[in-house]
Amino acid sequence: MVFLGIDIGSGGTKAILLDKEGKPVQSAEISYSFDVPQEGWTEHDPEKWWKASVSALRELFETNDPSKVEAIGVSGQMHSSVLLDSDHNVIRKAILWNDQRTAQECEDVLTQIGEEKFRSLTMNTLFPGFTLPKIMWLKNNEPEHYNRLSTVFMPKDYINFKLTGMIATEVTDASGTGVFDVYHRQWNRTIIDELGLNPEWFPQVFESTDIVGRLKSSVAKATGMKEGIPVVAGAADNAAAAVGNGVYEEGKGLVSVGTSGVVLMPIKNKPEREFLLKTNPSLHIFCHALPNTWYAMGVTLTAGESLKWFRQAFEIEEDFQHMLNQVKDVEAGSNGLIFTPYLSGERTPHNDSKARGVFYGMNLTHRRKHFMRSVLEGVSYSLKDCHELIKHIIQSESFVVTGGAVKSEAWCQILADVLGVRLKKSGQFEGPAIGAAILAGIGIGHWKTPGEAAREDIENVITPDLERNQIYEEGFEKYRELYVKLK
Ligand code: XUL
Repeated sequence: MVFLGIDIGSGGTKAILLDKEGKPVQSAEISYSFDVPQEGWTEHDPEKWWKASVSALRELFETNDPSKVEAIGVSGQMHSSVLLDSDHNVIRKAILWNDQRTAQECEDVLTQIGEEKFRSLTMNTLFPGFTLPKIMWLKNNEPEHYNRLSTVFMPKDYINFKLTGMIATEVTDASGTGVFDVYHRQWNRTIIDELGLNPEWFPQVFESTDIVGRLKSSVAKATGMKEGIPVVAGAADNAAAAVGNGVYEEGKGLVSVGTSGVVLMPIKNKPEREFLLKTNPSLHIFCHALPNTWYAMGVTLTAGESLKWFRQAFEIEEDFQHMLNQVKDVEAGSNGLIFTPYLSGERTPHNDSKARGVFYGMNLTHRRKHFMRSVLEGVSYSLKDCHELIKHIIQSESFVVTGGAVKSEAWCQILADVLGVRLKKSGQFEGPAIGAAILAGIGIGHWKTPGEAAREDIENVITPDLERNQIYEEGFEKYRELYVKLK
């Protein structure tokens, strides 16, 4: 018996098999990059995700028996709009979570509905990356596409559709649309009606562990898996990564550094109005992947992607590991060099699509390695910005770090030093795919809670260094000032 998890990421699709104890059996990854048709725009062809999923499965099943898969769960990048017509054809490429083209639409929606009312209806403000402003952008700019709209859902929902033929979504991804009442875990009819949207565009919403469909015979034949095995609704990548790392109860936190960066902390109680009043609007309050659970999250749009950008922009040939090892030769603070990672605007704490990246404080001593270290420090400062805001509403002593950053000891240490917290290194950069497979196991009743399956790699604790933390406290103040002064 094994459980299959698939994650539709921004930089690649990962698939993983977990055994009945929750231990990873094998994983496969198919990498790709997103299109940047113009500054501030990012897109992906959903067909690319499906092809990548099939290739990843082929790789897994070269050495594993596909007929042992008992249930499937899928996770994926949040907010990205998959738009189908009435024949279930994809209308246009998906507009992604880090796309900034919809700033005007956000402003228009918030003006029409009223910002405070919008927040009380959804528990969130509207960010350009969310799904709703993408629909409004389509209406304003591509009416020929808007007029064909029949379904709006998210990347993992599209993969579920390919696997089962069912059109559905679930609470964690619906939370990031801007059309969802996070408090009541259902679509918000007031927003739909006031904006003149068609309620039928928004699919039935399930809980993440609910079974949404059964594996189609065509997919069963193509992959070797058994026809009719259950596919659960799955979850947004960050919620799934939290599940995969045992972060689903208040008191624990997740720091994830992949293409984006997030600090995510579960909330103990249903987030009531008083909670919302204390919450900075640049934080996201979303449904978590277990019934009756929620979390708060701050988002850095360009985290691991900043490093990838740096490597491409400066034509660095060395692999990431080699490149990252060099930053150990630079003192904390990069000798005064500060980087702001706002290469495609920023969500938390600024909600500013026009913010841009900066290297500040260059002097004659700086070499390439200083720039590299300042990129890592800048991304870490940005995550500290997220953590500082969440700290006002929830406290946590225990953080797990996950995502591509866990492959670099140097980066994990910088994160711990900047955040000033002990970090448990997860060892799972396939976190969302693992979480999705765990949700599948829960969905068929094999596990009751993620805790029965998720393992934390606690031998690997990274402790902040007090002296470096002090240097970073001062650096953080300068980093914050930089945005204010340049704005
Ligand atoms: C979260 C967000 C990103 C994507 C990355 O709100 O937009 O973390 O989910 O895949």
